[in-house]
Amino acid sequence: MSAFKDNLLAGKTAFVAGGTSGINLGIAKRYAELGAKVAVAGRNPEKAAAAAASIGPDALGLSCDVRDYGQIRAALEEATGKLGKLDIVVSGAAGNFVAPALGMSANGFRTVVDIDLNGTFNVFRACYDLLNIPGASLIAITAGQAVNPAMMQAHVCAAKAGINQLIRVLAMEWGPAGVRVNGISPGPIRGTEGMARLSPTPEADAALNARIPLRRMGEVEEVAESAVFLVSESAKYVTGTILDCDGGSQLGDARDRTGAQGLQAG
Ligand code: NAP
Ligand code: COA
Repeated sequence: MSAFKDNLLAGKTAFVAGGTSGINLGIAKRYAELGAKVAVAGRNPEKAAAAAASIGPDALGLSCDVRDYGQIRAALEEATGKLGKLDIVVSGAAGNFVAPALGMSANGFRTVVDIDLNGTFNVFRACYDLLNIPGASLIAITAGQAVNPAMMQAHVCAAKAGINQLIRVLAMEWGPAGVRVNGISPGPIRGTEGMARLSPTPEADAALNARIPLRRMGEVEEVAESAVFLVSESAKYVTGTILDCDGGSQLGDARDRTGAQGLQAG
C-alpha cells in the first residue's frame, strides 16, 4: 500500500549506486514502477545485469567499484549517455562484517570506510555535472551506527557518521544551485545481506525485534517509500535531513521491562 500516485516519477532519471541487491535494488525498483528511467551499479557485472533485468527491460545494469573515482565517473557517464541527465542519485553501496577493532586489520577498517564514506563522496562528486539542475535530488544511505556506537562495528560507525556530515555539508554547498541532499537511515531490514551478517539466527532476530519500538524488522519496500518521498515534490523544501526509517530503533532499547525487578509500575 503506497500513498504515491502512479507515474509520479515519469520523465525522471535515476542512478542507484549499490543498487544491484537488497535495499538499494528495492529503491531502484520502486522508482522504475513510478515511471523513472533507472540505472543500477555494483561491482559484479552478472549481478548488475540480473538486477537490471529484474527492474525491467529498459533498466541499465552497470559494473563499477565506488572506491575508484574513474570507475564511478565512467558508469555515471554511460548512464547519462543512454538515459539522459540525472534527476535522482542514490549512494547506497556499503560493506560490513562483524569484528572487534582488535580483530580487524588496518586494511579491514579502511575497506569499509572506503566503500561507504569515500564511495559516497565519489558518487556525489562525480555526478554533479551530470545532474539536471535545478531540481536534482541526492540520497545517501546511512545507518543507525552513525549515531549510536555499536560493538564490533568500529568501521561502520566511523564511515556512516562521516556520511551523515557529508550529507549536511553538501546540502549547504549545493542548495543554492537547487540540488537537495538527504539521507535515509534504515533500521534492521528483513531478508537483506546486512541483516544476514548482523543477525544471523532466528533467535537473534527475536531478541532484536523485542528491542524495536514497532516490534518488527522493516521491509525493503518500506525504505523504498521513504526514498520516493525524499525525491518527490512533497519534499521540495527538505534538504540536509536524515530520515530514520527504522521502526523507532534509534530511540534506544525498547524492551518491555515491566517484569524486571525494580522497574515495576508503582
Ligand atoms: P547489499 O544487498 O549487500 O547491497 C550492497 C550493494 O552495494 C550491492 O549492490 C553490492 O553489489 C554493492 N557494492 C558493495 N561494495 C561495492 C563497491 N565497492 N562498489 C560498488 N558497489 C558495491 O546490502 P543491504 O543490506 O541491502 O544494504 C544496503 C544499504 O543499506 C547499505 O548502505 C547499508 O549500510 C544500509 N543499511 C542496511 C541495513 C539492513 O538492515 N540491511 C540497515 C541499515 C542500513 P556488489 O557486491 O556486486 O558490488
Ligand atoms: N573480520 C575481520 N576482517 C575482515 C573480515 C572479517 N569478518 N572480512 C574481511 N575482513 C578484512 C580482510 O581480511 C581484509 O583485510 P586484510 O587484507 O588485512 O586481510 C579486508 O577486510 C578487505 O577484505 P577483502 O575481502 O579483500 O575486501 P573486498 O573489497 O573484496 O570486500 C568486504 C569488502 C570485506 C566489505 C566484503 O564483505 C563485501 O564485499 N561486502 C559487500 C556486501 C555487504 O557487506 N553487504 C552488507 C551491507 S550493510
